[in-house]
Amino acid sequence: MAKTFFITTAIDYTNSAPHIGHAYEKILADVIARYQRLKGEDVFFLTGVDQHGQKVQQSAEREGVPPEQFVAGVTEQFIALWDKLGVCYDAWAATTDPLHKQCVQAMLQRLFDEGKIYKDKQVGFYSVRQEQFLTDKDRNEAGEFGPEWGEVEQREEENYYFKLNDHKEWLLQFLRAHPNFVSPPFRQTELANAVEKLTGDLCISRPKSRLSWGIELPFDRDYVNYVWFDALSNYISFIGYDPGLSSINDQPSTFRDKWPALQVIGKDIMVPAHGIYWPIMLHALGFPDDQMPTLLVHGWWNISGAKMSKSLGNVVDPDALIEKYGAEAVRYYLMSDIAVGKDADFSEERLAGRYKSDLSDNIGNLLNRTLNMAHQFGLAKLSAAGSDRSELSGLAEIEVPNVYVKCKAGFECFRIDDALGMARALSGHCNIVIDALAPWKLRKQQTQIDLLKAILYYLTESLRILAILISPVLPRAAHGIFDQLNWKMELSGKEERFRLEDAKWGGLPDGHVVGKPVPLFPRIEG
Ligand code: ME8
Ligand code: MG
Repeated sequence: MAKTFFITTAIDYTNSAPHIGHAYEKILADVIARYQRLKGEDVFFLTGVDQHGQKVQQSAEREGVPPEQFVAGVTEQFIALWDKLGVCYDAWAATTDPLHKQCVQAMLQRLFDEGKIYKDKQVGFYSVRQEQFLTDKDRNEAGEFGPEWGEVEQREEENYYFKLNDHKEWLLQFLRAHPNFVSPPFRQTELANAVEKLTGDLCISRPKSRLSWGIELPFDRDYVNYVWFDALSNYISFIGYDPGLSSINDQPSTFRDKWPALQVIGKDIMVPAHGIYWPIMLHALGFPDDQMPTLLVHGWWNISGAKMSKSLGNVVDPDALIEKYGAEAVRYYLMSDIAVGKDADFSEERLAGRYKSDLSDNIGNLLNRTLNMAHQFGLAKLSAAGSDRSELSGLAEIEVPNVYVKCKAGFECFRIDDALGMARALSGHCNIVIDALAPWKLRKQQTQIDLLKAILYYLTESLRILAILISPVLPRAAHGIFDQLNWKMELSGKEERFRLEDAKWGGLPDGHVVGKPVPLFPRIEG
C-alpha cells in the first residue's frame, strides 16, 4: 500500500474575511505539498473553513442574514483567494458539510456510549452581553470583571464534558517518547509544560437556547457541540474515517493510505486545541501512538510588533497586495521574510523591496541578460562542453551541487526562507560570473569563443536548476524560466514539468536552442 504524504492546515473561521495571516499558512502548506510532489511523492492536501460557533452566529445576526447565508459568502472569499494565490488543495473541509456532521455525531455517540462523555452542572459568572461564562482570567487588575463584559450575573448551567483528564498521563508519556511530535522543538517544550498544568475535563456543549449554530448532540437534542469535536475532527472526517470502528486496522484504505497527517497550524491554536485536545480525542477514539499526527507550528505576522486586528484597523488585505504586486510576489515575500515558528512584521515596503532586489534585479535580470547575450552573440544554440573550465570554477565560491543539497535541506525542515536564500545565492553568483568575465568583451576576441559558449551553458543550466528549486514557491516564474529556455515545452503550465531529480548539472543537451527573453518580474509602478 503506497503511503500518501498527507498535509492539512487549520480551517479558517468564517466570521470575517481572510487576511494575510491566513494566506501565509495556506501558502506554507502549499509550498510543502508542492515540494513533496517535486520529490515524486503522492500528496493529499486538505484545507477548508470552520463555519460553526458563537462568533459566526453573532456576525450573521449583525448583518441580519441567516448563518448559512453568511458563511457561504465568507467561504466564497476564502476559495477565491486560494485560487488567486495558486494554493492547490485536494479536498475542501467545510464543517457544515452533512458528511462531516454525521461523522462528528457518530464519534460523539460512540464516546458517550463508552462512558467517556458525561453531563455536569456548572455554576459561575456569566456575561450577558458576550454570552459566555467568565473565568478568573477575565478579571482585570483590580480583580473585577470590567465594563467590557456588560452585566455579569451568577448562572447555573448543565453541559456535557469529555473526560480529558483521564488521558493526561498518557499524553505526557507520549510526548516524552515522541520528541518530534511538534516542530520547531521549542514549541514541544511549551506544550509539555502546558500538559503538566492540565486540570479538569473539557466542556463540549452549549444549550441551544444560547447557541443554535452548531452540530446537535446525538444523545441530547437540546444541545449543540461546542466546538473542538466539530472543528478538529475535520482532519479525519473528510478523508473517510469511519467513526463506528474503534480499531484503526478496520478503517477503510482511503483513510489509512493518508493518515497520519502533517498538520500546519499557528502558534495560538497549539495549546490547548491541537496539542492537548486533539491527541487525547484521537487516543480516546482508539488511535495508537504511531497513528498520531505531527504538528508544524508557525508564528504570526504582526504589524509594527502589534497583533493584526479589526478593531485596530490594521488588517492587511491579501487581495489588494495581489492586485498590486501579483500572486507570486506575495507568495515569495511571505515565504522569505519569516523563519518558520517565529513571528515577523509585515511590511509592504519590504515586500516591494524584496520583489525588486531578489526577483526583478537578481533572478529576472539574470534570465534576461543571459538570453539576450545568447541571441546577440548568435549563440542561442548551446554547446554543453567546457562548463567546468577553470575561468568558471575559479569564480565558484558557490557550487550548484551544494546549492541543490542545501536548498533541499531547507525544504525538508520547513526552512523555506533558507531554501530561497540558497536559490538567490545561486542567481547572485551567476550575475557575478557575468560581471567578472564580461562576455561582451570576450565576444570581440576570436580565441575566446569556447569560453563564451561555456559561460552561456553555465548560465542557462544554472537557470534551469534554479527554476526547479524555486518551483514550490514560485510555480509561475519557474514555468516562465523553462518557457524562455525553451525546455520541456510539451509540459508548459503543468506541475509535472519539474522534478527534483532533474535539478542536477547537465540536463540541457548539447545543441539545445534557447528562446527569447521576456521580462519575468516586470517593474511595479508606484
Ligand atoms: O483558529 N499570522 O481560525 P482562524 C499567521 N478556526 N497566522 C495567523 C494569523 C497571523 N496574523 N492570524 C491567524 C482558527 N493565523 C480556528 C482553527 S482548526 C481545527 C480550527 C492562523 O481563522 C491561525 O494561527 O482564527 C490559524 O492557524 C489559522 O490562521 C486560522 O485562524
Ligand atoms: Mg484564531
